[in-house]
Amino acid sequence: MITTTSRRSLFAFWAGSSRYRHCGDSLGLEHSPHRIELPRLLQGCKRVLDLACGDGANLAFLPEGIDYTGCDYSAYALETLMSKTDHLSMAKRVFAGDVRQLPVETGSQDAVISSYSFEHFLEVPTILNECDRVLRPGGLLVIFGPDYTAPNAFSPPQAAIIKGNRVRLLTYTLGRLARRLRHARGRDRVLFEYVEPLVLSEATFQPDHDLTHLTNHGMIGKYMKSLVYQQVELVTTAPSPDSLLKKAFATLGLWGKFGDARVVLKKPIEPVKPRKIQVTERLVHRQPD
Ligand SMILES: C[S@@+](CC[C@H](N)C(=O)[O-])C[C@H]1O[C@@H](n2cnc3c(N)ncnc32)[C@H](O)[C@@H]1O
Repeated sequence: MITTTSRRSLFAFWAGSSRYRHCGDSLGLEHSPHRIELPRLLQGCKRVLDLACGDGANLAFLPEGIDYTGCDYSAYALETLMSKTDHLSMAKRVFAGDVRQLPVETGSQDAVISSYSFEHFLEVPTILNECDRVLRPGGLLVIFGPDYTAPNAFSPPQAAIIKGNRVRLLTYTLGRLARRLRHARGRDRVLFEYVEPLVLSEATFQPDHDLTHLTNHGMIGKYMKSLVYQQVELVTTAPSPDSLLKKAFATLGLWGKFGDARVVLKKPIEPVKPRKIQVTERLVHRQPD
């Protein structure tokens, strides 16, 4: 898997870097089709934790009177959040920390939201378990961001490595297709795929070369369903396929391009025993030496 050294360097990259924000600004993340859904999704929720909140882009979309907690390990992003004076009254608690160990009380949150962050995580099951820990019974988990479910949907680091190399393209696509089919079979097998972030080896910063997780919102839903969560929504906003063949593949979930997705899950009200499942975490490729 991804080494401790990479993990440390990745942390150093986020903690001290302002580069990602400029990249985020150029992508116009504030205009996400999912952020505008937050008031509807969070109806009746008071205590909301924003997981890897960055500079607080979600704050402007949250309903009035929310009791907001933000957590992120980028000092730069949190400083930016705190400088937005119009948000200060809502953002009472903002923690610098790793989302793998949230500095938040067990069962204290009505909702956990996470936007454009899961694609930056390593150890996704650990983070999902943390979300489960801090949510109250009946609480909501709302996750959105880019989705790489289709075997030919590559995140920027992977696309950079493939770079027109047809053999690599075919190998990666077939490999992912085979794994996907294997894990699609049972509801008791979950797969999380990662790539080694290119940002650690590049001299100049390329947008989104820091991505690590090939986010698959359906797989996140499947994992949470093993904790007996109810899936309230799974929405994808990938561009529509433009040919019959692609349409057929899209129906089978085997065709895709960069697209956003959102998954919304509800924690059971009564304590229920989690279902035993097999969780596989796999590094899809390493950087070439
Ligand atoms: C692209 S930004 C998204 C920020 C914000 N949620 C938004 O919608 O604009 C990704 C954020 O994830 C944070 N991050 C990545 N891994 C993290 C971790 N393990 N713990 C805490 N924050 C993390 C980064 O510091 C960064 O602020």
